[in-house]
Amino acid sequence: MAKIISFSNQKGGVGKTTTCVDLAAALAASGKRVLIVDFDPQGNASSALGIFDKKTKNSVYNVLCDDVSAEQAVRASELDGLYIIPSSDDLAGAELELSQIVIGRERVLEEKLETLKDKFDYVFIDCPPSLGLLTVNALTASNGVLIPIQCEFFALEGLSQMMNTIKLVKKHLNATLDVTGVVLTMYDGRSKLSRGVLEEISKYFGDKVFDAKIPRNIRLAEAPSYGKPILLYDRRCAGAAAYDKLASEFLAREEKPLEIK
Ligand SMILES: Nc1ncnc2c1ncn2[C@@H]1O[C@H](COP(=O)(O)OP(=O)(O)O)[C@@H](O)[C@H]1O
Ligand SMILES: [Mg+2]
Repeated sequence: MAKIISFSNQKGGVGKTTTCVDLAAALAASGKRVLIVDFDPQGNASSALGIFDKKTKNSVYNVLCDDVSAEQAVRASELDGLYIIPSSDDLAGAELELSQIVIGRERVLEEKLETLKDKFDYVFIDCPPSLGLLTVNALTASNGVLIPIQCEFFALEGLSQMMNTIKLVKKHLNATLDVTGVVLTMYDGRSKLSRGVLEEISKYFGDKVFDAKIPRNIRLAEAPSYGKPILLYDRRCAGAAAYDKLASEFLAREEKPLEIK
């Protein structure tokens, strides 16, 4: 059965999509079957895997709001083992449409993903930068949430709001939801600021912080414009190495889960 993980942080530009796509690609390269659900109306994960057709009628929007099944919307990527349900322009309206459902509006994605669970090892949901009904749907469908945090001065701002949303979803909708881990992105070990953020985050999240940190790396920023994950764009760069390391650590933790404190 697939493990479902949401990549979430209500801040934009912190590395959610890059981490979702490049960790998924690294896991696929190690033999796992991974599905990305592009749950952001901006569709960056779709573009990053070479899908630039934002008017598609088989998108995650159609899965949520029409009769399209999740299977029908799955597309193969260029990398073996890596698949995606793309986003489309109309996903921006889904939040409003979902809000009009009287019962079960938080569980629409969970129910739609049910039939796909035996076909993948992991389903990664790339969340939008907000804590609205799309993110609540994603968290409700998930076993875990992975939080990318950018090493910058305001890194912790808004984090308590997100932790509160996770707590509420856990309490009312999905008792088994847990924080899978925290990934520091755009990290520079030589900068005092990055080290300060690491210290603060470690105080708050303890062992949940992955040892593997993602450096600021121009190749990571270039890869999406070629529609390729980093390991197909430049597998020798520091960014690719960092995501490889993150994938190994992620898999090691899967085998030996952290003790709950
Ligand atoms: N480690 C990194 N080094 C350099 N640029 C990065 C890195 N991670 C992400 N970026 C770039 O920063 C921008 C925001 O990243 P993205 O993953 O799209 O964040 P989010 O999904 O949280 O909005 C993108 O242009 C992306 O290519
Ligand atoms: Mg994004």
